[in-house]
Amino acid sequence: MSNKPASTKPASTVLLILGKETGPFARGQYNQGLFDAAVETLSPNHTVLTTVIEDGYDIAEEIDKFKQADTVIYQYPVFWFMMPASLKEYMDTVFQYGAFFDFKDGPYGGGGLMTGRKVMLSTTWNAPAEAFGDPAVFFGGQTPSEVLAPMRKAHAYCGFIELPHFSCHDVVKAPDFPADRARLVRHLHEVFGGAGVQAA
Ligand SMILES: Cc1cc2nc3c(=O)[nH]c(=O)nc-3n(C[C@H](O)[C@H](O)[C@H](O)COP(=O)(O)O)c2cc1C
Repeated sequence: MSNKPASTKPASTVLLILGKETGPFARGQYNQGLFDAAVETLSPNHTVLTTVIEDGYDIAEEIDKFKQADTVIYQYPVFWFMMPASLKEYMDTVFQYGAFFDFKDGPYGGGGLMTGRKVMLSTTWNAPAEAFGDPAVFFGGQTPSEVLAPMRKAHAYCGFIELPHFSCHDVVKAPDFPADRARLVRHLHEVFGGAGVQAA
């Protein structure tokens, strides 16, 4: 056995952004619970920065958090096949020219200033898993990640590399929060490579 003390250096910096909204139909609880699980899972071995959009934010501070982050994880409910309006507004104001992208010569989309950073989307849907991946059903064979193309393209435009995304389904009609929470923790272990997250 080695006598060498375990390293105390955090594996990386992760920015976790919670894009829930508290309304009469969607109360934000599923997303709050998954966000809390991600913070708990990653905190022991990573520097974790957080933003809860609903609580308000300072644009300059958010830009600074993105610059510090190696990885950005969004936790949000899908509203009309997109992100909630507050998350869209956050992106419209925080993703600024000169910080997130600029207009370089060369092919369209090559001006991202967030290169080297990774992004992961963790979303909740009322749509059941069976509604995806089959050309005969509602999403016409698309996967959840394919439906979220505009969110993913926005990040690709800014230079982010995508990690495998994560989604929970049937969260209104037939929710199983403990199972979804456990799946998210497993997903984080896989994505961050076992040693980088707290043991399950
Ligand atoms: C305005 C609105 C639009 C929604 N649109 C969709 C949708 O397009 N697809 C879907 O699967 N679920 C949709 N839902 C269901 C939400 O995704 C679901 O209520 C949410 O994920 C629950 O998470 P929460 O408990 O954290 O609020 C919608 C809900 C609201 C309030």
